[in-house]
Amino acid sequence: MNRLGILTSGGDCPGLNAVIRGAVLGGARAYNCEFEGFRDGWRGVLEGDAVALPIEAVRGISRLGGTVLGTSRTNPITAGGPAVVRESLERRGLEGLIAIGGEGTLAAARILGQAGIKVVGVPKTIDNDLGGTDYTFGFDSAVQTATDAIDRLRTTGESHHRCMIAEVMGRNAGWIALHAGMAAGAHAILIPEHRVSMEQAAAWVLSAHERGRAPLVVVAEAFVPTGREAPYAPRGLDTFGRPRLGGIGFLLEQELQKLTGIECRATVLGHIQRGGAPTAFDRVLATRLGLAAVRTAAIGKWGVMVSLRGTDITTLDLQEALKEPRTVPGYRYEEAASLFG
Ligand code: F6P
Repeated sequence: MNRLGILTSGGDCPGLNAVIRGAVLGGARAYNCEFEGFRDGWRGVLEGDAVALPIEAVRGISRLGGTVLGTSRTNPITAGGPAVVRESLERRGLEGLIAIGGEGTLAAARILGQAGIKVVGVPKTIDNDLGGTDYTFGFDSAVQTATDAIDRLRTTGESHHRCMIAEVMGRNAGWIALHAGMAAGAHAILIPEHRVSMEQAAAWVLSAHERGRAPLVVVAEAFVPTGREAPYAPRGLDTFGRPRLGGIGFLLEQELQKLTGIECRATVLGHIQRGGAPTAFDRVLATRLGLAAVRTAAIGKWGVMVSLRGTDITTLDLQEALKEPRTVPGYRYEEAASLFG
């Protein structure tokens, strides 16, 4: 193995550059391996758009947010298929591919692996919703960013005696809401895994208000209040056919103001949570995953994902890795809910 391709695909997150650096430096030092970086994820593979990645190109990048390679939500299966991917790798003399991505990217990598293409997956997402790993890098940074933003909402909320509602990302998992909400001391946290009625949410808001506090509600973008059918997603579907979420905070703003009589203000934190530099935790995790990915390729173990188990980095079959999403278990929600109101 002396030439590998690398790509970042799907929503970006802090830590992607640290994986690229870990893989390129680790590969060059231990295995004399050369890398080509595909631009904008699978789009670059399908269109043959790649750049050489010598070690000089990755120096000092692990502290940078985003991805130096660019990303896209191009689906390689629907937009090209295994034959186009194989031909693109062969044309550049690449033995295999390190694909850094979330659920959509890794599912595509699994299908390509089944078609005989040599791929190692590296899990990333701010959502922390991949069952095959204990944590994804990007999550810790997103939680820190959300917590900082919510702390700011708190000071303005307290000054005006208002109820502040912070909507965070996370897709169908409530991890960012749970962790940022707990860290910020929210009076209510609303997540997709646990239905709550508007009346219950209003009761928590009123109880905090009656104690002289400015109520703080943290809501995950896919939260579904009792009585609604599905997450609030008025903006259609993405290229993987998933609903584009966002805006439930504004529904809560109206409903909670009506039910409590307290002035409410909602803020959707949105892509702010994906931007900026990775935390030290995410840089370390991402670097270790990059090193592990190239080690895995070097021993010819393809069709797997590198993953964090406890404090160790291990590998598991992509099929196995994608079996179950990681959602917030009931006991974690109950623990947080014991402090609501
Ligand atoms: O999966 C990461 C994520 O940021 C989700 O939390 C969010 O729902 C989605 O991506 C937003 O996607 P886009 O950047 O395509 O709007």
